[in-house]
Amino acid sequence: MEKNRSNFTGSIGFIFAAASSAVGLGNLWRFPYLAAKYGGGIFLLAYLILAVTFGFALMVTEIAIGRKTRLSPMEAFGSLNKKWKWLGKLTTLVPVLILPYYCVIGGWVTKYGAVMLSGAVSESANDSYFPSFISSTVSPLVFFLIFALLVAIIIFLGVNKGIEKFSKLLMPLLLVLTIGLTVFVLTRKGAGAGVAYYLKPDFANLSIKTILAALGQLFFSMSLAMGIMITYGSYVRKEDNIEKSVRQIEMFDTLIAFLAGLMIVPAVFAYSGGDADALGKGPSLMFVTLPKVFNEMPFGSVVGALFFILVFFAALTSAVSVMEAIVAGIDDKYKTGRKKATVIVFLYAVAIGVLCSLGFGVLSNITIIGFGILDFLDFMSNSVLMPIVGMLTCIVIGF
Ligand code: TRP
Repeated sequence: MEKNRSNFTGSIGFIFAAASSAVGLGNLWRFPYLAAKYGGGIFLLAYLILAVTFGFALMVTEIAIGRKTRLSPMEAFGSLNKKWKWLGKLTTLVPVLILPYYCVIGGWVTKYGAVMLSGAVSESANDSYFPSFISSTVSPLVFFLIFALLVAIIIFLGVNKGIEKFSKLLMPLLLVLTIGLTVFVLTRKGAGAGVAYYLKPDFANLSIKTILAALGQLFFSMSLAMGIMITYGSYVRKEDNIEKSVRQIEMFDTLIAFLAGLMIVPAVFAYSGGDADALGKGPSLMFVTLPKVFNEMPFGSVVGALFFILVFFAALTSAVSVMEAIVAGIDDKYKTGRKKATVIVFLYAVAIGVLCSLGFGVLSNITIIGFGILDFLDFMSNSVLMPIVGMLTCIVIGF
């Protein structure tokens, strides 16, 4: 009896830890803008198919590697087979690319939480509000620094567990609020066309770009191909049922992403028409569309503030897991101690994050193979490195 009980709490704890890493900006910010941009229903279909096949297999694999080796990714691959030691290094490179720009977007969310709290909803609903915010110099940098500093402090003090407990309470709230907002948006005039665009796959919109975008998003949203799940897997006990846990994590993560899309894509149709221009807004989509929704609803500033605060916490727990992966890797490899590693990683994130942020303003003429600085890091990590690491991880297990 006693044993069963602790067994139960054990796997629930693991599920929440993994889910709080998985549910973040990927679900609420990245998924809707990709779905809007890459063909709506056909993107959703591609995503769902990849999630239940490849995503499921890869998450189970990573957790199993962690459970078997009980090592961090840096060492885990090498211990399975010396030949694959370099894959551990490659895996640790993914969070290095993601962390700086994740914190920049986290800063945008922080800013919007503050704006809603100050009651300036109608200003923020203006089309020019967001572009003028990100192209300015000081304000986005300040909010980026606040966010990055919080992430670093949490890791420095080693209070991740406390934060995870806290997010356990907040995640259901986020789910409820997202459902409420979705219902509100769906009753707006013109939203119907958006629902059709989002749910009905149109094969004319299918291209290799759609598949690649869906694949990259899958890795990002489920925190795969970067060793996080290997780390969590090292805490899982022999008797825990990995498949069942993974199914629950995946379902929760996908549900939040699906609802975020169902809230934002129809809103684009209701407030800006469904032209390619409005749909193709990319990273700015959430920040341009949602304020319009809040502006139109009763108690919009309260709802808006609550929403961005919840997104803020979801982003924070995910960012902590990204930074943790790098800190653990450095500490493992160079035996620096966690505190020193945290300071190093923080300084690195600030240096690169400042460039990402300024890339929308004074550095906007800098492009790398056609991408702005932030988009370049996003592309390299999600569309190049993660698919490679993900495929290789599956191959390694075959050996
Ligand atoms: N999955 C998180 C999100 O959706 C982001 C994230 C956390 C992540 N850890 C990761 C992405 C590891 C890739 C790899 O926001």
